[in-house]
This record gives sequence, C-alpha cells and structure tokens, in this order.
Amino acid sequence: MAEFTLKIRRYDPQSGEPPYWDEHTVDLEPHRSVLEGILQARNEQDGSIGVRCSCRAAICGSCGVRINGQPGLACHTHLDKALESAKDGVIEVEPMGNMPVIRDLIVDMDAVHWKKVQQITPWLIPKEPVPEREYIVPRESMIDITQSMACIQCGACVSDCLSMEVDPLFIGPAALAKSYRFVGDPRDAAHKERLKYLSEDKHGIYDCTHCFKCIEACPKGVAPMNQIMRLRRISGNVYDIKDRNNGERHEMAFVKNIQKNGVLHEADLLPDSYGGKFHPRAVPELISSLPVVVTALLRGKVTPQKALLHSHKAPEGVKEIFESVESRDGGIEFNLYIEGTDEDNAEPPGAEGVLEKVAEDVVTEALEEAPVTPAGGEGSSA
Ligand code: SF4
Ligand code: SF4
Ligand code: FES
Repeated sequence: MAEFTLKIRRYDPQSGEPPYWDEHTVDLEPHRSVLEGILQARNEQDGSIGVRCSCRAAICGSCGVRINGQPGLACHTHLDKALESAKDGVIEVEPMGNMPVIRDLIVDMDAVHWKKVQQITPWLIPKEPVPEREYIVPRESMIDITQSMACIQCGACVSDCLSMEVDPLFIGPAALAKSYRFVGDPRDAAHKERLKYLSEDKHGIYDCTHCFKCIEACPKGVAPMNQIMRLRRISGNVYDIKDRNNGERHEMAFVKNIQKNGVLHEADLLPDSYGGKFHPRAVPELISSLPVVVTALLRGKVTPQKALLHSHKAPEGVKEIFESVESRDGGIEFNLYIEGTDEDNAEPPGAEGVLEKVAEDVVTEALEEAPVTPAGGEGSSA
C-alpha cells in the first residue's frame, strides 16, 4: 500500500459558487487506478464527489477525465503512472474539456458529444437489394474499419480537440471517426451522401487542423485524425467532391505548394487555394484577407522579397517523391491497427513494432508490388 494525494476539481454550477480544488489522500496499491482512488475518497472522506463510472475496465467509456492536464480514462490510469506526470507529487483530476460540467468530474456528453454523433447518421444504411441471408463482404474491408469500431465513445478526443475549442460547432474527432466506420463499410449505401454532407458542412471534415491531439488522447488507438484524413481522401479522390467552403482546394493547394517549393511558401497558399492570384474566386478572398497579410508582413512571416522573388525550386528528392506517388493508378490505404492473420495468432504489435514493420516491408512491398486499390472504394485495402 502507498499513499497518493488526489487534487480534485469541484464545481456545482447550480450552487452559483465558482469551481475550487480539494485534496484527498488515499491509501492504495500503486497499480490501482485513479478511479479507485477517487472512489475511495468518495466512500471514505466526501460522499459528495461527483464522478461517473461503470465497467471499471476501459470498456464503457464513462469515466473520462483529465489527469494532470491530459485526457484519459480514470479506470485505465494506474496511480503510480499518474504520479510520474504529477506536479509536486499531487495527482490532479479535473473534468474533460469542451463539454459543460454537470457536477465535479461529470460532463454533459449529451450537449456536445452525442449531439455530434447523431449528426453523422450513426447507423448503417443497407444496400439494396438486401440479401436473403447475410451480406458477403471482403474480409479486408472489415479489417479496414476495425480501428474506428474500437471507439468506446469516452469523449477524451473531444475534450482535447483544438478545433472544437475555436469552433464548438465542429463535428469533432469522435463523430467523424464514427462516420468512417460507415464510409469504409461496403454494406453501406450512402457513402457519397455522407461525404457530401461532411464536406459541405463548414464544421465538417475540413474544419480539422491536424493538431494530433485526438490521436494522443484516445485510449483505444482509434486515431480519429487519421479517420478524418481518410474521409477527406475518399471525398476528394474517389467522389471528386469540391466543397463550397474550399476545403478540398485548400488541401490540394498545400500539396501543390510543397511540390513546387519543397517547403511551404505561404505567400502562394491563399491565392492557390482559390485557383490562383487572378482567379475571380480569389479576388474577394484576397481583399478580405488583407488584414492577415498585413499582420504576416509586420511579423516577418511573409516578406515582399520572399513573396515576389521566390525561386519556386523544389529539391530533387521532393520531386522524386511526387513523381513516384503520381505515377501510381490510385491511393493505398494502410490500416496499421491490425496486421497479420488470425492464424498467426500474433499479439497486436506495439507502436514500435508497427513502425518497424512499415519501414521494413509494408511500404516497400505495397508501393513496389501490391496491386493498388482506390482509396476507400468497395473493398478498400487494409
Ligand atoms: S487533429 Fe483535428 S479532430 Fe483531432 S484534435 Fe486536432 S483538430 Fe481536432
Ligand atoms: S475516438 Fe478514442 S478518445 Fe475519441 S471517443 Fe472514441 S475511444 Fe474515446
Ligand atoms: S469505468 Fe468504464 S471505461 Fe472507465
């Protein structure tokens, strides 16, 4: 047994009092979870501590909190591990972010998370004709969506999403990962409609800023940002959806910019996102962006010299990468969540193992030998 001090953020919005912290010392074995620490404090010291939990086994997703500032499952975080990142030996526990607090560590998942999940039509729309017995689908396509199916709806990714902080209407990482679960499923009949909706909504897939926070936060390895990028690729590459908000064009402008310059040349990015400096679509955007341009000039992010006299010469290595990718017929989707076969009966590899595997053979083999499957089309490769 060892003593651990928990500093818990307390707040009851109905009381009219501001939030405050209180501390509790609990006596538990170090491999016990932060949740057990909170429950001991509640059972033995203060029965009014508000916390939500059910399975205590990282399955139900109800105990999401922030521990020392990082989102995670209280039942899936050992006290000794939490102590490693604690300040002055005190483990801080607070409610998740981006969602209103109902009381103490309990946030209103309905108000944010579930509302967004409802937005993406979270059920399969069956393809017609519905077979008399079961749909037969390629095994690979089911492996492809396994990663998004692993989501337990805990909200940890929502808690830390930087885009949601700026735009609370952003559909968000969890709901978009859920959407890939259906867009990647060959039995679903509404891939295009789903993608059109997610592209055209200005709070949809192009509202993500690639900050990686949701990947770091997810306790189940769902990697929501990767699922969002897959939605974007399928939307643009397979269904050729050009959204009203210019998200697809902006993304392509990044790619072209790197292809042309090797590293990002900011001065071209905005006009290229609207079809070039002289495109009619670009003019109003450039005018409305003048304050940003002036700020960038004042801060030295863009200089007139760099903007006007840029050589636009990408290094040979960058050109070769683009040539190699563009010479292929279609995209390749890698799902690194699961690899091997049931027969291998192998333990799922850790991150290191996966990267090693990718480095050593997946990329080489796939790029040089494997037949290419259009990204996200029926039977999209795993
Ligand atoms: S990568 Fe995108 S979805 Fe994920 S946390 Fe960042 S902004 Fe949000
Ligand atoms: S994607 Fe991960 S972090 Fe987000 S709700 Fe699902 S399990 Fe939780
Ligand atoms: S209590 Fe179910 S995930 Fe933690």
